[in-house]
Amino acid sequence: MCGIIGYCGPKPAAGLLLEGLKRLEYRGYDSAGICVQAEGGGPLSLYKRKGKIRELIPLVPEELAGSCGIGHTRWATHGEVTDQNAHPHLDCSGRIAVAHNGIIENYLSLREKLASEGHRFASETDSEVIAHLIEKYYSGDLMEAVRRALALLKGTYGIVCLHRDHPDRLVGARQGSPLVVGIGHGESFLASDVTAIIGHTKQVVYLEDGELVCLTPEELRTTDLKDQEIQKKVEPVSWELEQIEKGGFAHFMEKEIFEQPESIKRAMGGRIDLEQATAHLGGLNMSNRDLLNVERVRIVAAGTSWHAGLVGMYLLESIARIPCTVEIASELRYRNPVVERNTLHFVVSQSGETIDSLYAMRELQRKGATVLGICNVVGSTIPRESNGGVYIHSGPEIAVASTKAFTSQITVFYLFSLLLGRMRDLSADAGSAFIRDLASIPAKVEAILAGSRGIRELARRYCHYQHFLFLGRGINYPVAMEGALKLKEISYIHAEGYSASELKHGPIALIGEETPCLFLVPDDGLRDKLLSNIKEVKARRGRVIAVCAQGDNEVRGIADDVIEVPRVHETFNPFLMVVPLQLLAYYAALELGRDVDQPRNLAKSVTVE
Ligand code: F6R
Repeated sequence: MCGIIGYCGPKPAAGLLLEGLKRLEYRGYDSAGICVQAEGGGPLSLYKRKGKIRELIPLVPEELAGSCGIGHTRWATHGEVTDQNAHPHLDCSGRIAVAHNGIIENYLSLREKLASEGHRFASETDSEVIAHLIEKYYSGDLMEAVRRALALLKGTYGIVCLHRDHPDRLVGARQGSPLVVGIGHGESFLASDVTAIIGHTKQVVYLEDGELVCLTPEELRTTDLKDQEIQKKVEPVSWELEQIEKGGFAHFMEKEIFEQPESIKRAMGGRIDLEQATAHLGGLNMSNRDLLNVERVRIVAAGTSWHAGLVGMYLLESIARIPCTVEIASELRYRNPVVERNTLHFVVSQSGETIDSLYAMRELQRKGATVLGICNVVGSTIPRESNGGVYIHSGPEIAVASTKAFTSQITVFYLFSLLLGRMRDLSADAGSAFIRDLASIPAKVEAILAGSRGIRELARRYCHYQHFLFLGRGINYPVAMEGALKLKEISYIHAEGYSASELKHGPIALIGEETPCLFLVPDDGLRDKLLSNIKEVKARRGRVIAVCAQGDNEVRGIADDVIEVPRVHETFNPFLMVVPLQLLAYYAALELGRDVDQPRNLAKSVTVE
């Protein structure tokens, strides 16, 4: 989704801004721009255009002077993808420039009023009204003008702006769209995401909703919307620059798939207690008594994180014997949900910024719920506002399609189910066996990755089909949905994930030579049922790829193609079922020449509704 970068300091700003924008590319965007203050208060230099940053770079003169500026990657919401609609936007006088993430819901009425007062608009965007409002209220104090402009806005924003009369300062503000300040030596940064700035500083200040910041190279001043000073904490960032680079892989998605043996280990790291055969999850902020009082769990998330939550539901019910429901955040949020006593809520979000999940969390908290986060990005909004939670420690996930976050999110659910299970029905022996199986997963994932060539070959043969069905049962049903999501989002092949048992209730009408079915058939209690489902498909001349346990000759005998994975206790199959599906999607997209890391229309962190 849209990205913001701002810089003020001693260095030429243009190069830093373009580099920052490149680091934000992964979020998804369709146009980009920068605006730089000329040295000594000359006119603002504005360069913006639709398309990729590589198309913007040639427009920016190499010698462009000016050491304070702002940049933006736009993901269109209001107004088409055009050069004019790209950010930054200027006021009428060309003295103020603004870049905005989010949506201004009342922009039409504001725009009409401003136009009637003589303001001239150059774009169709909602964002441009902010520049004109600041112009209207400016009388020498930029921060004050911004504050007065913000008071009129309804909606969400992360903004950064500059004024030609203040060549060494930036003003930023946040409401529902993240912003982080980077503090360097004699230089300051403002960004929507730490990845844009970690090449320059590891010291950051996270802004909260309702806060404004004024930055100069030497200092920052933070206030609320009523101009009350706020003392902010400077926090370290643990991510390293190498983690946000491809490190020899062709794509971030490939790198992240191959990182999974390590990222799964990191999600478990320091959280397993061999002696007590249980798990410790310190960030939950819950005593054993609190945990014993939990009668139900509700998991809320979107997309891939929702699929991870569904796996969590199977685990919590089967291992911890706790009733559990899983809901799509955007649906829950507008449904006036009932919060029952002794129900523990989890919000699962890789980015920690997904607006649907964040607002669902706030709604639940407003109703008195205890909400824990399962997140990856340290310092992001959901973990900061939740009542506690667990970081998955996957490291930066840059590819738009989520892979390693999924396996780490489910790792946390395995640990949490073990913890609750050991407080209830699970014996110490069963707990120890559970830990042994979980600890064996990274090596088994490694073995699947070592066989990726076979999956690549399969992707080559199947990537020209227009439609796919992914079918699984039990705990692997959400994995089938996840496999279908991966394939559709990066290869654009239409794919649906179903419970194989649902086939006969409708989707079987689609079966034929043109719609291959990918079945997840591990060696578990539902295998025989799945074999029958495969036969139903074969009887209708459907092609079948099966992901099955090593040496399962019966599956091999009836499927057209198989991907074998190591054997494991059936509870743990989701790890081993999902990795081949990630690889299949990746290689299919590669075969079809798709933009794997930045698929069309998609954004990494969905910060608008
Ligand atoms: C799919 C994908 C999305 C996200 C969803 C939620 O590959 O990445 O479906 O899972 O937008 O994002 P987070 O987990 O950041 O809340």
